[in-house]
Amino acid sequence: MTSTAATSPAPGLSLGSVHVDTPVVLAPMAGITNAAYRRLCAEQGAGLYVCEMITSRGLVEGDQHTRDMLVFDELETVRSVQLYGTDPIYVGKAAEILCAEYGVAHIDLNFGCPVPKVTRKGGGGALPWKRGLLGQILEAAVAAATPYDVPVTMKTRKGIDEDHLTYLDAGRIAQESGCAAIALHGRTVAQAYSGEADWDAIARLVDHVDIPVLGNGDIWEAADALRMVEQTGAAGVVVGRGCLGRPWLFRDLAAAFAGEQVATLPTLGEVTGMMRRHAELLCQHMGEERGCKEFRKHVSWYLKGFAAGGEMRRSLGLVDSLAALDALLAELDPTEPFPVQELGTPRGRQGSPRNRVVLPEGWLEDADGSSCRLQEDAVEITGG
Ligand SMILES: Cc1cc2nc3c(=O)[nH]c(=O)nc-3n(C[C@H](O)[C@H](O)[C@H](O)COP(=O)(O)O)c2cc1C
Repeated sequence: MTSTAATSPAPGLSLGSVHVDTPVVLAPMAGITNAAYRRLCAEQGAGLYVCEMITSRGLVEGDQHTRDMLVFDELETVRSVQLYGTDPIYVGKAAEILCAEYGVAHIDLNFGCPVPKVTRKGGGGALPWKRGLLGQILEAAVAAATPYDVPVTMKTRKGIDEDHLTYLDAGRIAQESGCAAIALHGRTVAQAYSGEADWDAIARLVDHVDIPVLGNGDIWEAADALRMVEQTGAAGVVVGRGCLGRPWLFRDLAAAFAGEQVATLPTLGEVTGMMRRHAELLCQHMGEERGCKEFRKHVSWYLKGFAAGGEMRRSLGLVDSLAALDALLAELDPTEPFPVQELGTPRGRQGSPRNRVVLPEGWLEDADGSSCRLQEDAVEITGG
């Protein structure tokens, strides 16, 4: 399943009071990084595993859907949550609730979402353009979390587009506001998930600030993570799409940062074992019907590059019980080797760039926005 060789070691990652042995963060991904998936990844390697994004207003107003997303696995020792918000008052109150009622140990704030319905209201990746407002939001979160010794970080993109970059200012503001780190996805909002992540921008941010910078974008293999850290000086990496259907990537990452070169190449039998484990954890957390439904979206990622035919994929995409899943997985050839041509290739969302980022009227005219009050969404599940 694996091959091993020695290379140079690297330390773990400290974000304020939180320390993890491997400088790797599971990127918050809406609809993916629920308690079951975080546990599955944690079973593979050490890192920080961030919960799906929740909205500040949803939490403050006691929205049931928001509260339902705040579920943690019994073995989850470090509770890490990503919070979305555009209003300092809601964000501060939400941070307080997370610390006081949910025992959260790390709060990340999302300023990277490229979805038009979010940027149209000045949220997500559009917000850092308003430097003053960004500072107020970060300060409110830090003020609420500090008495609990809970570090606050922010995650952002390079900017709205190449003509409206915000990441260097965001880094400075994060530092001045008392954030423990800033994560940078090396794309603009306009790029969405297209093209290649700009790792040079990550290096520039590292040079620009004294707080740790976490690099994000296009880590498909453990070797990419080492390369990113080496090229940029980032304190750690944030891994999103690369681990879709490949939770064992965290094993390779933990080994790589411990100085071993490990490339897990599971046979189809080992992959189906992982699929079964994933489905079982989802069912444990959500009940069998919802768990199986949630599992369906992962099937094509797990089977990417394997020979499993269209009929099998369709059936797995409709699976409604663990027994049905077992019966289907048993039909696959467990000895089929891992499709090595998939290594290092993109998976998950890619899409095309946007001609125009949808923003509130006159948004770009004022780059401070200290007195700007945005309408805060109660339920926003689209994420990054
Ligand atoms: C399905 C999906 C959902 C996402 N949801 C969020 C989110 O809720 N919050 C966030 O900050 N980023 C979100 N992202 C962005 C990722 O966290 C990450 O920044 C991005 O995928 C780039 O990293 P990667 O190249 O390793 O995938 C999402 C990405 C995907 C693919």
